[in-house]
Amino acid sequence: SLDFLSFRNHSHIESKFSVRSEEFPDEDMCYLVPGRRESISACNFKTDAQTFLVIHGWSVAGLFESWVSKLVSALLEREPDANVIVVDWLERASHHYPTSAENTRLVGMDVAKFINWLESLGYPLEKLHILGYSLGAHVAGIAGNLTNNKVNRITGLDPAGPTFEHADRLKRLSDDDAEFVDVLHTNTRGTPDLSIGIQRPVGHVDIYPNGGTFQPGCSLQNAMRMITTYGLYNVDQLVKCSHERSVHLFIDSLVNWDRQSLAYRCSSKEAFSKGLCLSCRKNRCTRLGYNVSKVRSTRSARMYLKTRDVMPYKVFHYQIKVHLFSQKDMTLESQPLKISLFGIRDERDNIPVVVSRMITNTTVSFLVTCDTDIGELLMLSVQWEKDSFLSGFFSTGQFRIRRMRVKSGETQANRLKPLFGKLLPAVMVPCFSS
Ligand SMILES: *[C@@H]1O[C@H](CO)[C@@H](O)[C@H](O)[C@H]1NC(C)=O
Ligand SMILES: *[C@@H]1O[C@H](CO)[C@@H](O)[C@H](O)[C@H]1NC(C)=O
Ligand SMILES: *[C@@H]1O[C@H](CO)[C@@H](O)[C@H](O)[C@H]1NC(C)=O
Ligand SMILES: *[C@@H]1O[C@H](CO)[C@@H](O)[C@H](O)[C@H]1NC(C)=O
Repeated sequence: SLDFLSFRNHSHIESKFSVRSEEFPDEDMCYLVPGRRESISACNFKTDAQTFLVIHGWSVAGLFESWVSKLVSALLEREPDANVIVVDWLERASHHYPTSAENTRLVGMDVAKFINWLESLGYPLEKLHILGYSLGAHVAGIAGNLTNNKVNRITGLDPAGPTFEHADRLKRLSDDDAEFVDVLHTNTRGTPDLSIGIQRPVGHVDIYPNGGTFQPGCSLQNAMRMITTYGLYNVDQLVKCSHERSVHLFIDSLVNWDRQSLAYRCSSKEAFSKGLCLSCRKNRCTRLGYNVSKVRSTRSARMYLKTRDVMPYKVFHYQIKVHLFSQKDMTLESQPLKISLFGIRDERDNIPVVVSRMITNTTVSFLVTCDTDIGELLMLSVQWEKDSFLSGFFSTGQFRIRRMRVKSGETQANRLKPLFGKLLPAVMVPCFSS
């Protein structure tokens, strides 16, 4: 029965609701206590302002992780008038993983009661945005499903995978849990049961940065370098690097609002890495993070993008399509190329790309990314790496480029240049629109 969820029954709420401030983003200064109306004014909760509810995940140390205060600060930097509340369920989160995972149900009930209580005081749920990281994403989902009315938005930051991948939608985050549910998947490596982050799409929009498996800058080599620089105490952070990247991508979207990353709908990460999905038509692309386009399609939309390894994470995506022709049937595998892009504002040289297969009289398509804004593209150069030549490939000069097309994801500009000539180790292609 939903009776025990009534806003009048606050007897068993163990989670704490800490109102954070810009001056002390990492300190619990004041708790809102469901059932105690006076805590609203005591904590200076603004009943007419937007509210962010931040929910942490599994805790090994029983302490808030450092991202919590960073996210609080970023939310208040972007929306200075908003309320930011951190849900403290550390007690129930610092058990063995399976126990903490089961506790999401109890914490979700606490959060739902808290929300019902706020609503009973006249607070409009259209102004409520819940952000949950890892297990906290499922807490948010469970809470969202138990409230009397739907909350406006839930953002799942790499929702936890183990025990949730195949769970019933009532027990995990799903697109029923809020008017709009957006999800970032950043650490989904391995078989579904072992993946730290959930692999399946669980929202209206599910974004898989860098394919969602693993994030740049989180490699083992990087980990070793960080250990020698910062010492072993940071190992915990390194293990979670890709998982926690979801939070930092969201923070990036809040603070670097002039450098918003775009994500593109695509059927698979393989198709995305061929550059086939850079269209923005019919809501096929969206900003990542805070300003995501709230388009609710019937089927969950998987979206992809590449990012840099540090903040700001934005990169610029280009699809390059080359039509190759020859009198001779040829197939070349795994060809490393170097692409240089020359724009009005800047240029980027020797961006490495590996083209998986080139076949006579077909068009190859591949994705190139560039971490600076070069402005409108003027010229492009394609260069084969010498070591990759098959014998006689260039000496016979039999492979020719017939047409080349460049499409920019960020500007949606399309450049087509008919080109007749030999495919030389370096091909310079002017990209003026004709
Ligand atoms: C209040 O809620 C708790 C569980 O959260 C439940 O065990 C208890 O029976 C409820 N009390 C009433 C009066 O509904
Ligand atoms: C809870 O989830 C069920 C099943 O997914 C759904 O039908 C229902 O609309 C949800 N209710 C709320 C309030 O989110
Ligand atoms: C981003 O979101 C905020 C709050 O929803 C809105 O006021 C603002 O106009 C949005 N900015 C863009 C560029 O969409
Ligand atoms: C490729 O196409 C060109 C012109 O369209 C043609 O002349 C050539 O014979 C074709 N190559 C092969 C191997 O079929």
